[in-house]
Amino acid sequence: MTNSQVKIEVSGLTIAYGDFVLLKNLKFNINKGDVFIIMGGSGCGKSSLLRVLTGLTPVTIGKIMIDGINFTSASQDVRNEIMQKNGILYQGGALFSSMTLAENIALPLKQYTNYSEKLISELVSLKLSLVGLTGFEDFYPSEISGGMKKRAGLARALALDPQIVYFDEPSAGLDPISSKMLDDLIMEINQSLGTTIVVVTHELNSIFNIGTNSIFLDGNTKSITGYGNPKDLLKNPPNEEVYKFLTRGGERKNA
Ligand SMILES: Nc1ncnc2c1ncn2[C@@H]1O[C@H](COP(=O)(O)OP(=O)(O)O)[C@@H](O)[C@H]1O
Ligand SMILES: [Mg+2]
Repeated sequence: MTNSQVKIEVSGLTIAYGDFVLLKNLKFNINKGDVFIIMGGSGCGKSSLLRVLTGLTPVTIGKIMIDGINFTSASQDVRNEIMQKNGILYQGGALFSSMTLAENIALPLKQYTNYSEKLISELVSLKLSLVGLTGFEDFYPSEISGGMKKRAGLARALALDPQIVYFDEPSAGLDPISSKMLDDLIMEINQSLGTTIVVVTHELNSIFNIGTNSIFLDGNTKSITGYGNPKDLLKNPPNEEVYKFLTRGGERKNA
């Protein structure tokens, strides 16, 4: 039954905080190697969905299969094993300000591997070079720009060679050039390492430049009302909301 191309299979997923139902009966697949975009208006539940997919919040109703394993009903040990294959880049980059970039990136390696100091230091330099930050090992987060912080956060997310990397609004707070650089980097990692990427964003440039598949979460119906390659959704909008979202209210006729 399991399609080998499918990385994550979500079905019947409902997300609620107590009696407050945010999203109902979601069903979608994320394929291996996708750059999968989660889009939708502010407050519709994008970050909440990301937390459920990454295992930070347990599922109450519905099922998430990851690599054919039922993530929702798995034991804590199996869940932890799957979660260790995730890289996550939070909104602020979330680096520890009292640690150098090298120390920040070494953290997951020290926590989850038995690698020697020397190997860890080599891996740290490798990950920094991957995101264009060679030579910044001993810098503190406060000494580098916003775009560089995001890239350092990405280097840390890549520390354990994840199969999936999740981003929550990666371009928030970045100028257009840094934002474009981050998008290019996301594409490069996707293509050179084959990493599956899941991105929450409402940046239209990003959505059309990097997205290979997407879902649109509609806050009114609390459901997925658009599902497909963003360019196809723009060409053949399934409804007015998706069209408005992808055209900034009708302004943007051609992407
Ligand atoms: N831990 C929580 N407990 C209760 N309500 C929450 C919690 N986290 C988020 N919410 C509510 O859920 C809604 C969606 O939040 P969120 O997932 O952050 O949306 P988005 O990322 O799409 O802006 C908001 O109304 C928010 O206040
Ligand atoms: Mg959010």
